[in-house]
Amino acid sequence: MCGIVGYIGGQNCVPVLINGLESLEYRGYDSAGVAVISNGAIEIRKTKGKVENLRNLLLEQPVSGTVGIGHTRWATHGAPSDVNAHPHFSNDDKIAVVHNGIIENYQELKEKLQAKGYVFHSDTDTETVAHLIDDFYKQNNDLLEAVRLTLNVIEGSYALGVLCTDYPDQIIAARKESPLIVGIGEGSNFIASDIPAILNYTKNAYILGDKEFALIKADEIKLYDIDGNEIHRDVYTYNWDVEAAQKNGYDHFMLKEIYEQPKVVMDNLSRRFSADGKHVELDGIKLGRAELENINQIYIVACGTAYYAGLVGKYLLERMVRIPVNSEVASEFRYKDPLIDEHTLVIVVSQSGETADTLSALKLAKAKGSRVLGIVNAVGSSIAREADDVLYTLAGFEIAVASTKAFSAQVIAMYLLTLHIAQELGTLPEKDFLEIKEAMLRLPSQINDILTKAVPAIRSFVDKYISSKNVFYIGRGLDYVVSMEGSLKLKEIAYLHSEPYAAGELKHGPIALIESATLVVGVATQESLFDKTRSNMQEVKARGAKVLAIAMQGNRSIEEVADDVIYIPRTHWMLTSVLANIPQQLFAYYMALGLGEDIDKPRNLAKSVTVE
Ligand code: F6R
Repeated sequence: MCGIVGYIGGQNCVPVLINGLESLEYRGYDSAGVAVISNGAIEIRKTKGKVENLRNLLLEQPVSGTVGIGHTRWATHGAPSDVNAHPHFSNDDKIAVVHNGIIENYQELKEKLQAKGYVFHSDTDTETVAHLIDDFYKQNNDLLEAVRLTLNVIEGSYALGVLCTDYPDQIIAARKESPLIVGIGEGSNFIASDIPAILNYTKNAYILGDKEFALIKADEIKLYDIDGNEIHRDVYTYNWDVEAAQKNGYDHFMLKEIYEQPKVVMDNLSRRFSADGKHVELDGIKLGRAELENINQIYIVACGTAYYAGLVGKYLLERMVRIPVNSEVASEFRYKDPLIDEHTLVIVVSQSGETADTLSALKLAKAKGSRVLGIVNAVGSSIAREADDVLYTLAGFEIAVASTKAFSAQVIAMYLLTLHIAQELGTLPEKDFLEIKEAMLRLPSQINDILTKAVPAIRSFVDKYISSKNVFYIGRGLDYVVSMEGSLKLKEIAYLHSEPYAAGELKHGPIALIESATLVVGVATQESLFDKTRSNMQEVKARGAKVLAIAMQGNRSIEEVADDVIYIPRTHWMLTSVLANIPQQLFAYYMALGLGEDIDKPRNLAKSVTVE
């Protein structure tokens, strides 16, 4: 949540900051602002709403300078407004601060600062940081030390960018539990919450660790730990090109990312099998037979879409490895004193690798002696760095707030991990492994097939039911998990009330909600459960529902109980989820498009949830 960018170099920083903020808008879009050092003073321009509003404000009130910081906000403390927008000034306009995270003890600090005469203008926790730095600076006249002392006092999470008029040739940056990188240019340097913000200028960066801070000049970067000791860090080179952060002709990032899925799945499958084709090979995972035999239960912990990918893993691992698997949302897991120990494998799943609840769950698991395996997309992220083993999902940048390709990559990771564990523990005969592997390698072309053929049918269904107010998703087993993800996507971007139900559970209450023209998406791709789910679809149809079914090719009898059917290509039972979810993504996308919603930036949401 919240995006930060900063530039110091030889050119006007304002276009660099604005372009950077636009590519960080997926992190929040409640307000945006910049602070620029201009003729020895700091000029701030900030406004409620999207970066576009800031761009317009800068046309009316231009500013320029070679050193600046910018921010796009997802509001936590204080409503989205001009005054709560970052950057925030110290009282004499000497120090400006941008912040991502939450200062948990800000109220107590605020009272102490007010007692010293500091006047607060906003409702934010961030303003406390500006005044605190100012207070320390007035005492010791050393800005870097004032920032360090501030970091020792504030509690919570932060990524910070700091400017001071007395040091017009530097930016200070710091981080704890919120992402921040220091981009390395030629004659110019940067700070950013994420690489897309600066990819036009550099692919090289230092990834700041927790409680580390940096002094950044145009031609020099120094990194420090919280005690003020200078530290050295390897340069990380991002292997992504500028195009990855652009729409490339698609109307929305979400649609682009949906269409990237054949490639993402292929990338996740290539080089994951041994040369003889008989084993899964997962770089970064050191879980051999000995380690696995020490484990008597697995927990899979994540949030939102990543949690649903984890649920796919639960169904597969329990069925194919016969180990008990608990799946928990991270915000519950972290506060329930879970029954885990050194015989528990905890798998955390996260696209961003920065989700606050998931990161805390990981830390809790480690503190209880459990081994933690991270399934992570963002390379070098907090979760990737803290987990004992990491399986990267290779989905590339996911910019649309609603996750699509990252989910598919997480599900593929679950498939691979299940096969790996099953093989190590001897629960998967080689013949079955080879059959599943062959089916997996067909998935990219099968996804392509769905993307090519399903769109007209989905669009015509959307046209018929665009005025629906309630949509139910039903399925059994793995299809139930897919239903949950489909329902979440529709809520997020089309703002439609939607509920997923285990199809067999409907008659225990929720079926009372079905009435004439209620929309039901029925997922029935599990052959062993097909007849059961089909009967449940019949039950809702008999009560007037309009049914969109997702089924495997060949199961034509579904047409008797559905108004429209999207067929997915035939595959092995364990692999249906990744295919069945594609029509659901398209359905949510075209519903949101038809309703005129802001698909890539749905209201109230942000991509990377770094607050509780
Ligand atoms: C939904 C969505 C969210 C995320 C969740 C976890 O489309 O994107 O539900 O899946 O916030 O985020 P990560 O995977 O970054 O931990």
